[in-house]
Amino acid sequence: MPHLTDTFTTQFGSPPALVVRGPGRVNLIGEHTDYNDGFVMPMAIDRAVRIALRPRSDKRVVVTSLDMGETAEFALDHLHHNQPTWIEYIKGVAWALQQHGYALEGWEGVMVGDVPIGAGLSSSAAVEMAAARAFAAVSNLPWEPATMARLGQITENRWMGVNSGIMDQMISAAGQADHALLIDCRTLETTAVPLPPHTCAVILDTSTRRGLVDSAYNERRAQCETAAAHFGVAALRDVSWELFEARAGELDEVVRRRARHVVGENGRVWQAQQAMLAGDAAELGRLMNASHASLRDDFEVSSPALNAIVEIAQQHPLCWGARMTGAGFGGCAVALVAQQPDQLADFVQTVQTAYHAATQLTPNLYICRATAGASVEP
Ligand code: GLA
Repeated sequence: MPHLTDTFTTQFGSPPALVVRGPGRVNLIGEHTDYNDGFVMPMAIDRAVRIALRPRSDKRVVVTSLDMGETAEFALDHLHHNQPTWIEYIKGVAWALQQHGYALEGWEGVMVGDVPIGAGLSSSAAVEMAAARAFAAVSNLPWEPATMARLGQITENRWMGVNSGIMDQMISAAGQADHALLIDCRTLETTAVPLPPHTCAVILDTSTRRGLVDSAYNERRAQCETAAAHFGVAALRDVSWELFEARAGELDEVVRRRARHVVGENGRVWQAQQAMLAGDAAELGRLMNASHASLRDDFEVSSPALNAIVEIAQQHPLCWGARMTGAGFGGCAVALVAQQPDQLADFVQTVQTAYHAATQLTPNLYICRATAGASVEP
């Protein structure tokens, strides 16, 4: 933070008027359910994108990205697409907010983040929600998390051309400190749920990055839509486990496995909420393991690196359960680990050593804390 405000002061000649932040996220359970109008259980993490800024009166936005080592700018009344670089996320948010009817003011700022890019921790949603916070602050807009998340998703879908669901923007906008959030992706209703006592979430970054994920993601979405259409419902969220079992035989084999994952995963999110409220770490861990198996075998979005790190984590005595998190095909897994400070280091060390031995890759492990959603820093 001092680094960010100092850089701003050096660049603009006086300290920033404010600093906004948009957090990354990790999803505990409920994967590939959001675009099926289903349920997810992510938490906002203590890694975020921050922007130090001050308003401008000429309807221009000027941003320096410290991570990219670049400055870019655009005019709010002349928004047009350029190459899909980092500034497009901010421009796209401006576009979506204006489409929604908000009158925007310009600003100039310096941006920096510590959410690893492309790792499946929603670095793009973090940029979008930090930018939305910046526009809300300088333009006096109400901060309504669900509205801002929808506009972030519209940015992603229509400006960036990525067909993602609502989970990432919603948790980045609406996260709550020390809690995961059960999100109903149809109504955007949220319920804060604490982790079981004496546990923490550890992110296991395989250090592989997902390739070709867009086409595989869109294919999964289409298969889910085919299944929903077969059942005659708006989305797989409307298919109960009983209905699925009764009619599963009518579906083509691949579509059946995709639907089985989604219907089962929605049920697991509800069971996870019950386990968390009961403080039952063993049951939550069991559900996370079952989620991973379903994503690996039925939804087929895991990868050898993700399977390796998940299996290694699951074997550690402190680990209650582990699964891949996010879209898949690379990136990160998440483990629920007993929080015994003197032994947590052993978990980290063991996973690092065993994963390196199995894959020749060096992983990154982050013990993370659940934070509030996008905010103006005090
Ligand atoms: C990506 C998308 C989300 C969600 C997850 C899978 O992170 O951005 O909307 O679909 O994949 O659960």
